[in-house]
Amino acid sequence: MQVAVTLSADDHDCHLRIHDDGVGLPKEWKLRPDAFGLRGVLERIAQLGGNLFIKGKPGDGVTIAAKVPLSRITVPG
Ligand SMILES: Nc1ncnc2c1ncn2[C@@H]1O[C@H](COP(=O)(O)OP(=O)(O)OP(=O)(O)O)[C@@H](O)[C@H]1O
Ligand SMILES: [Mg+2]
Repeated sequence: MQVAVTLSADDHDCHLRIHDDGVGLPKEWKLRPDAFGLRGVLERIAQLGGNLFIKGKPGDGVTIAAKVPLSRITVPG
């Protein structure tokens, strides 16, 4: 399996995109109430005023894209 990660920014937002060519997602896939991985990511991104997009089809890999306003990103130190 191959995974491609890109991180970029425009004037307003930071963009993270992760794409894999794995098994993809079932047709009616939804976040499960008992699974915390992607839900945890979603909630943290939302808390930063951003949004998360999860897309996948059966057999066609998964793409996860996150956008976060640069104004909400702080560098420690
Ligand atoms: N890149 C991916 N390719 C295919 N399926 C995925 C991918 N990422 C997540 N999934 C599917 O989404 C489900 C939810 O993922 P998530 O990480 O939220 O929970 P989990 O790993 O099942 O449980 P937890 O993270 O709580 O231990 C996974 O069980 C899997 O079926
Ligand atoms: Mg997980």
